[in-house]
Amino acid sequence: MKVLGIETSCDETGVAVYDSRAGLLGHQVYSQIALHADYGGVVPELASRDHVRKLTPMVGQLLDELALTGADIDGVAYTAGPGLAGALLVGAAFGRSLAWGWGVPAIGVHHMEGHLLAPMLEPDQPAFPFVALLVSGGHTQLVQVAGVGDYELLGESLDDAAGEAFDKTAKLLNLGYPGGPALSALARDGDPDRFRFPRPMTDRPGLDFSFSGLKTFALTTLQQESEGLSGDDLQRLHADIARAFEDAVVDTLAIKCQRAVRQADSRALVMAGGVSANRTLRARVDQLMAELGGRAYYPRAELCTDNGAMIAYAGWQRLQAGQHEGPGFAIRPRWPMQELVAERPPNA
Ligand code: KG4
Ligand code: ZN
Repeated sequence: MKVLGIETSCDETGVAVYDSRAGLLGHQVYSQIALHADYGGVVPELASRDHVRKLTPMVGQLLDELALTGADIDGVAYTAGPGLAGALLVGAAFGRSLAWGWGVPAIGVHHMEGHLLAPMLEPDQPAFPFVALLVSGGHTQLVQVAGVGDYELLGESLDDAAGEAFDKTAKLLNLGYPGGPALSALARDGDPDRFRFPRPMTDRPGLDFSFSGLKTFALTTLQQESEGLSGDDLQRLHADIARAFEDAVVDTLAIKCQRAVRQADSRALVMAGGVSANRTLRARVDQLMAELGGRAYYPRAELCTDNGAMIAYAGWQRLQAGQHEGPGFAIRPRWPMQELVAERPPNA
């Protein structure tokens, strides 16, 4: 079974074809970063319009590259939420229409379920059950995963998501948007011993997170230390702050992962979402799981950030379980993942 996947929940247009026998046949991602750069964040209306421009040529090009036509596609999966309403509507309307035209079933996919299942696109797949850390620009969640659609939320961020905290702190350091990767690169030059930022909510039991205080801590440190500095000295201060910030986020995530894995008595930790591309975090969870006698699983970096491949894969899982949409389509800009069920009856 070949499934076309379409991702348009935010500022990346992603398209992919997943084959249940051969695996991921191909995928393409177009990032709108340059389009939104001047505004310091994603402008929803511009995002929607750009998805409209990109989807048709991208799907055409992908099918050409794979030497496929619509007649080879057995199902269409699109991101139905959570995300920006206009952006979701573009992908959902496009995906539903293609499926209608090709006479194949369509399925609306939960974006975070896509992230969560993305490690399954790799040859070395984790086996159920496992604990998953989902760390993206909009979500930070620890989830106990018993199977596809069987999710128990163990903890989540009470304020900023980890990626959001990276982006806001990067902005303070003039690193542009989204600044997560740039902040991480700068942190490599930073002195790990100069500043120590707090590890929020690790001094009490529980698996929730709070990252908004770290950004404030970075701002206060910057204001206190930057007076009279310029050139290399200021650059060094920025790098040291980036390092202290990244160490604090990675440490906090690792402490909570350790708790969750112990609590669930699990041997496998899956990590997914944009922030899981972070090299320091990857090294840290690898080390943590080795110490606990288990293993960490995460997809290759290009499948950590938003992409169509994860939507094609999650869509295939749903379609092969007999789920599909009715003749219409619906989007859910807000959609708690716990509302997903393993066997959802087809929407009428
Ligand atoms: O999953 P994603 O592509 O989109 C959402 O669903 O939100 O995640 C994007 C987030 C952004 O906040 C970005 O700064 C962050 O992931 N990110 C990183 C890295 N790569 C992406 N944060 C830290 N280190 C990275 N290497
Ligand atoms: Zn995402």
